[in-house]
Amino acid sequence: MKITVDQACHILKSGGVVALPTDTVYGLACCFDDQKAVENIFHLKKRPQDNPLIVHVSDIGQVRQCCMNLPKDFEQLANVFWPGPLTLVIPCSTDRVPKQVRAGLSTCAFRQPNHPIALEVIKNVGPIVMPSCNLASKPSATESKAVEEDFGKDFPVVEGGENFKGIESTILIWQDSSWRAGRLGVHPLEDFVQVLGYRPKFTAIENEIACPGQKYRHYAPNAKLILSKQRPDKSFDAIVGFDDRKYPASISFYSIGKSSDAKICASRLYQVLRQLDRDEIKVAWVDMDFPNTGLFEVIRERLKKASL
Ligand code: TXA
Ligand code: MG
Repeated sequence: MKITVDQACHILKSGGVVALPTDTVYGLACCFDDQKAVENIFHLKKRPQDNPLIVHVSDIGQVRQCCMNLPKDFEQLANVFWPGPLTLVIPCSTDRVPKQVRAGLSTCAFRQPNHPIALEVIKNVGPIVMPSCNLASKPSATESKAVEEDFGKDFPVVEGGENFKGIESTILIWQDSSWRAGRLGVHPLEDFVQVLGYRPKFTAIENEIACPGQKYRHYAPNAKLILSKQRPDKSFDAIVGFDDRKYPASISFYSIGKSSDAKICASRLYQVLRQLDRDEIKVAWVDMDFPNTGLFEVIRERLKKASL
């Protein structure tokens, strides 16, 4: 059910949960200090209790209210990348951030989203938590119809149009006196060298899981995905690939964009994965013949998780 920004603010202030657009994907929002509403978010998403939430803020002052000290380079990172698709995980005052929000950890994730609707709501109601607005394990929603698919036609959603980046924010975690990447996302890790002087290490590569959410199956359609650079030997009933490639015309084709345009591919990825399920595709071959750099590296990582 489409609602206005005013209605969303009213619902949030009354302890409710709404879907809001952000610059990355739709978020499932409630006030961060409303225990019942936060519990409801875990319940609605079927989210494991040990997976903490990101607190979305409209300015750095709201972070200061939750944390005694800000780690080295926090302010520079926020100045350069906020508002935008960067989440920063830092030690917080445990009496200022409710336990459920941080899933019992002594750290909290913060992000200032670059979306006028999300920012207007936060300015009006204060900090809000927003996990991606999808059932746990499903691809995130970048269209309001995807929100309806997961939460029902009556679920309140503020329409966000079509300008989503399409994948989630990059997560940097302050750990052992340096910044590490807990989740790849819209910002390739090279982007942070200008501020930090180094490329944050991605903890998953070191077999270390710093973001609890990373250990769960994620982004996955019901369709089985075969990831391969070449046409696989096994049978499949759809191809997920690129506009500028030739594929057998007899098999249904789902394009994520041009193989030279990672931004478009990122923005369409989850829409295509969801469309496979709408069309009841059982097995799809995903053409993995694309670069392993920048945003394409992130797309590759999401596809690997989606195929588990
Ligand atoms: O782009 C985004 O970040 C979207 C939009 C809606 O803002 N939100 C999003 O939230 O992707 P969610 O809940 O789907 O993913 C949050 C990730 C999870 O992997 C979680 O484990 C991690 O952030 N996280 C949150 N708090 C953390 C903490 N204190 N320490 C480590 N990881 C944390
Ligand atoms: Mg998510």
